[in-house]
Amino acid sequence: MQQLTDKVAIITGGAGGIGRGLTTAFVAAGAKVLFVDVDDEAGLSLEQELGENARFLNIDLAAPGSAESIRDAALAAFGRIDTLVNNANSSTPAPLLDVDDANLDQVFESSFRPTLKLMQACHGALAETKGSIINFASGAGLNGDPNQGSYAAAKEAIRGITRVAANEWGPNGIRVNVVCPFALTDGVRWWSETYPEQAAHTVSTVPLGRIGDIATDIAPAVVFFASDASQYITGQTIMLDGGGIKLR
Ligand SMILES: NC(=O)c1ccc[n+]([C@@H]2O[C@H](COP(=O)([O-])OP(=O)(O)OC[C@H]3O[C@@H](n4cnc5c(N)ncnc54)[C@H](O)[C@@H]3O)[C@@H](O)[C@H]2O)c1
Repeated sequence: MQQLTDKVAIITGGAGGIGRGLTTAFVAAGAKVLFVDVDDEAGLSLEQELGENARFLNIDLAAPGSAESIRDAALAAFGRIDTLVNNANSSTPAPLLDVDDANLDQVFESSFRPTLKLMQACHGALAETKGSIINFASGAGLNGDPNQGSYAAAKEAIRGITRVAANEWGPNGIRVNVVCPFALTDGVRWWSETYPEQAAHTVSTVPLGRIGDIATDIAPAVVFFASDASQYITGQTIMLDGGGIKLR
């Protein structure tokens, strides 16, 4: 049996970068996926590629009411919700002294706030299925990387509500975990080609000696957190970064 047979997942930011790999992997593992993105072209092409078990919804997560619309679309399409993957993010690096309201709003409205709103909107449906939530944070937040003030704040806020939800919703049978990836997306590829010395230094701090591959290093771990194989794990932050950061 496939790991996610008969499970229904919502994946935000599911048409691009890591999210595209997640949508593809979840469908390959037997899940039905409602994936959300603002990139219409990428979303429609992926929907066509993956067939009837993938449904694309073009919604800006920053729009009021988007969480309820996404939940209702998943229930209308597939009848239940087993997994919520809060992967979407949009942010602009800036030195802390230059972080203003617009810079904060961009990242909080695309990641922290939709993560919380979707968790709240899907709570009832996830309680029915004893479901799993997987939120995305970042080593940049854990490390306090320079120029990542607003991003670090939003990502650490996501880790904060993950622990609260694990405690509050454990009795409802809902698991909530965080993953922090390091993966070769177009953005990371651009960065490593533009700043090769910086990239080489970063890779030298990764014990496994390379940047992660979305399909073979990141997606299988997220599938695991959506599957019953992780049924006794909640409230955790798991680094998918080749060992660069070791949490205790
Ligand atoms: N790539 C890495 O190495 C890395 C490192 C640490 C953390 N992360 C985290 O992993 C997740 C995925 O990162 P990525 O590199 O694939 O990002 P990405 O920018 O490549 O993709 C993000 C996707 O989210 C979508 N999106 C952004 N804002 C949206 C909105 N308001 N409404 C709907 N869709 C929206 C984008 O269109 C895009 O398809 C993010 O949460 C990111 O912070 C990634």
